Amino acid sequence: MLLEIDDIHVHYGKIAALKGISVSVDQGEIVTLIGANGAGKTTTLKTVSGLRNLSSGAVRFDGRDISRVPGHKRVLAGIGQAPEGRGIFPGMTVEENLLMGAYARKEDSSKELAEVHELFPRLAERRNQAGGTMSGGEQQMLAIGRALMAKPKVLLLDEPSMGLAPMLVQQIFSIIVEINRRGTTVLLVEQNAQQALQIAHRAYVLETGRVVKAAPAGELLDDPQVRAAYLGGASGDDLTAASDVASAEAAEDPEAARGPEEGPTR
Ligand SMILES: Nc1ncnc2c1ncn2[C@@H]1O[C@H](COP(=O)(O)OP(=O)(O)OP(=O)(O)O)[C@@H](O)[C@H]1O
Ligand SMILES: [Mg+2]
Repeated sequence: MLLEIDDIHVHYGKIAALKGISVSVDQGEIVTLIGANGAGKTTTLKTVSGLRNLSSGAVRFDGRDISRVPGHKRVLAGIGQAPEGRGIFPGMTVEENLLMGAYARKEDSSKELAEVHELFPRLAERRNQAGGTMSGGEQQMLAIGRALMAKPKVLLLDEPSMGLAPMLVQQIFSIIVEINRRGTTVLLVEQNAQQALQIAHRAYVLETGRVVKAAPAGELLDDPQVRAAYLGGASGDDLTAASDVASAEAAEDPEAARGPEEGPTR
């Protein structure tokens, strides 16, 4: 198991945000956490990346207990995160932002830069533009690109589709599939449960700080309770194939474009 979150409890002051969450992510998987606002998804990712301390339980990565390892060392160990709210440096250029992602590695990063440019051609086109003047979707790409510059073994993504137009949502999900296809394990948090379940191998449903369901993602897409609570109750027949990279390429063509069948579940 590449990443093992073992019965973690996390508090904000006296408030228990996580009440014993266990999640495991195997090498090569896309695993998604879904759940309502306040369920504890962001807190779980922050505890993995070292931005929050746990009260009890353990986080193990690559065979090592990293529960007390500081965040910057977790990045070096191979945990990459594109944070909620993006967190890019607005005054730096797109390229400088990307290079910041590789800063701690102290090695030549031209190969990683070329790969990020290949995944996100827009970031190559706009390499000299100030990060803060990029559009919301472009900043999201930049945040993911910057995380990839550190060559993570696992990439933590917190709501990468948040605030994006339907066409860009499709694109971001396709790129996540491509990143995974190229060998990076992904732990994905999404409100857009339908699309997340379509690209993920396995999924966990979180409710008020606890895991209430864990299953192959395809099973949850067909689960009546999950459908009612997180997927707008639609039947399984009208799903779009977000995992199909071709469908996102088609989405760049306005004639062929179509949005997701339903809006976000929040
Ligand atoms: N800085 C904080 N101080 C106090 N409580 C917090 C803080 N951050 C989160 N919480 C609480 O912890 C719980 C879990 O929050 P978290 O942000 O992990 O949820 P989430 O599942 O990511 O929700 P959302 O879908 O809205 O992003 C919530 O009850 C929230 O109010
Ligand atoms: Mg959150």
